[in-house]
Amino acid sequence: MQKTTISFKDQVLEGIPHILPQPKPFNSSINHAPKRKSILTEEEEKLALRNALRYFDKKHHKDLLPEFKNELNTYGRIYMYRLRPDYKIYARPIAEYPAKSKQAAAIMLMIQNNLDHAVAQHPHELITYGGNGAVFSNWAQYRLTMKYLAEMNDKQTLVMYSGHPMGLFPSHEEAPRVVVTNGMMIPNYSKPDDWEKFNALGVTQYGQMTAGSYMYIGPQGIVHGTTITVLNGFRKIGKEPKGNLFVTSGLGGMSGAQPKAGNIAGCITVCAEVNPKITQVRLDQGWIDEKITDLNELVARVKQAKAEKETISIAYLGNIVDVWEKFDEANLYIDLGSDQTSLHNPWAGGYYPVDQSFEESNDMMTNQPELFKEKVQETLRRHAKAINKHTAKGTYFFDYGNAFLLEASRAGADVMSKNPTIGREFKFPSYVQDIMGPMCFDYGFGPFRWVCASGKPEDLLKTDKIACVVLEEIMKHSPEEIQQQMMDNIQWIKGAQENKLVVGSQARILYADAEGRMKIADAFNKAIAKNEISEVILGRDHHDVSGTDSPYRETSNIYDGSRFTSDMAIHNVIGDSFRGATWVSIHNGGGVGWGEVINGGFGMVLDGSKEASKRLKQMLFWDVNNGISRRSWARNEGAIFAIKRAMETEPNLKVTLPNVVDDNLFR
Ligand SMILES: NC(=O)c1ccc[n+]([C@@H]2O[C@H](COP(=O)([O-])OP(=O)(O)OC[C@H]3O[C@@H](n4cnc5c(N)ncnc54)[C@H](O)[C@@H]3O)[C@@H](O)[C@H]2O)c1
Repeated sequence: MQKTTISFKDQVLEGIPHILPQPKPFNSSINHAPKRKSILTEEEEKLALRNALRYFDKKHHKDLLPEFKNELNTYGRIYMYRLRPDYKIYARPIAEYPAKSKQAAAIMLMIQNNLDHAVAQHPHELITYGGNGAVFSNWAQYRLTMKYLAEMNDKQTLVMYSGHPMGLFPSHEEAPRVVVTNGMMIPNYSKPDDWEKFNALGVTQYGQMTAGSYMYIGPQGIVHGTTITVLNGFRKIGKEPKGNLFVTSGLGGMSGAQPKAGNIAGCITVCAEVNPKITQVRLDQGWIDEKITDLNELVARVKQAKAEKETISIAYLGNIVDVWEKFDEANLYIDLGSDQTSLHNPWAGGYYPVDQSFEESNDMMTNQPELFKEKVQETLRRHAKAINKHTAKGTYFFDYGNAFLLEASRAGADVMSKNPTIGREFKFPSYVQDIMGPMCFDYGFGPFRWVCASGKPEDLLKTDKIACVVLEEIMKHSPEEIQQQMMDNIQWIKGAQENKLVVGSQARILYADAEGRMKIADAFNKAIAKNEISEVILGRDHHDVSGTDSPYRETSNIYDGSRFTSDMAIHNVIGDSFRGATWVSIHNGGGVGWGEVINGGFGMVLDGSKEASKRLKQMLFWDVNNGISRRSWARNEGAIFAIKRAMETEPNLKVTLPNVVDDNLFR
């Protein structure tokens, strides 16, 4: 039996142990991934088992075969639970990682943060968020990767194929330490069932966005973006958030940020969630104020909140469709409406049918998948019908990037526009079309983030202050067009400590444009050089200006027909990799579903050196302006303005500008 007393460092260096650890009992007190669909033929099952066993010395195959077969039959995947390490997984201070390369140690820290029980949605299945957003497909991959990172030097690059560490390859100091791809498929093999099959075979995985790229920072990452969306949503309808109602659903990895953001914006938020465990976690965390399980009680409570103009977030434990229908019946006016169930993953637990219990749904999902699919589609039609009743009364409803409109349309729900134009096929806008795209992305504002590698809250506080000073300085000369964004971001960073948003690593999210990102990063690097703070790891969500090509989300406000291309995201990751990123990643899938999006991101370690200063400037400038140039070429006004400004500041930037055709020529 393996000794459990060996240190964390030694366990990491051990990789896959020669003497296998004992099988681990299934821990039902934590949140587990639902059983995945059984999709493999008998022959394919053997292939999946062969694939899993190739991580182990031949002498273990006989013992492991029945165990892995059982996992495959019981859970639909081979997670290799027995290999789960005995040490606690969380973002340790960087100095605690066994490593020859500081950059590699930073990546280990970020990987562990993504798998921290306080952060990850299904930690034992290595899923960080979104129901299927995997860091790895099994624990052997985790162990091998950590060992490679511990052993590698700054003249090597670790190559990650969808969770599988292919190995260390010679490179050079300026190269990324890790290059990650997730779910990259030959396009014809990129349908949801292809994911089920090839993931079950153990040859690919769904990396979501920041899950498989080690850049998830808990729901804080989305609280800021959601706050901006809710604030601007209310601005769009010309109302104050105070005393007005926002109805939505989902309290999961990302969606859980909605009530918190609603509270920061100052409105009344009602958020439905079917999963009792998840609802309780959010209540315990203080991310929701109250939980209600009875619809009549909910109506009464919301009426009271409206009358008293309260800022409050209420979780309704139940199906969102019931809320929309009940509020219509009770004539309760909804100002803003949206949805963040996981409709990018509709058949495997992302969206629960109405009129049946959570348990019944889970059972039906695995045992009667066809019936489950019918129920989901029936619910989507009812969902849209109820929303339509509200929008007829004046509610502003937007798609929140979860493929709601796409799946509802596929289910035959009444969501199509009567007068469609290219890019405006649905009767409701996506939040990017109306809000985030024209107000933020086109100007280069996006979810910049950083993690303090020391793990010290004092470092985070110092970085918050540095970022605030930098933004206030920039704002003095900012043009009128971006004053509102600058103001919102300064307000955010000032309130960030008070809002207690840290879950897991000492991380901060802050929307910033290219100038803001570069100047903040440079100020951090200088503070590190002066020993005022320890190393900082920079990154961003893929849901950004340049990182993601997604026709129904990030690039839904591109109207020149190019929103179904993915050149931008691919260029982004290639460009980041040779301009100094510490690691880069490119994914198929994320947010809206496999085959529906290509997205990428980066991580960059700042260590106070001159090289880091050079790297951050050249890479961050490209990382934002690539997307602005594409948005500008698509004739987006804000982006044309922003790229012209960028060309004024950087003489080496020469971007092709569009000539806008006079509409009268077509009359
Ligand atoms: N707009 C954005 O910026 C943005 C960002 C991230 C994620 N998303 C998208 O939002 C979705 C949610 O992301 P997540 O990480 O929270 O996923 P998640 O799976 O962790 O959470 C979704 C939650 O919805 C609940 N749910 C499903 N059907 C329901 C129903 N009918 N009624 C009530 N609750 C129901 C589930 O139980 C689950 O807890 C995803 O599709 C994701 O891609 C959007």
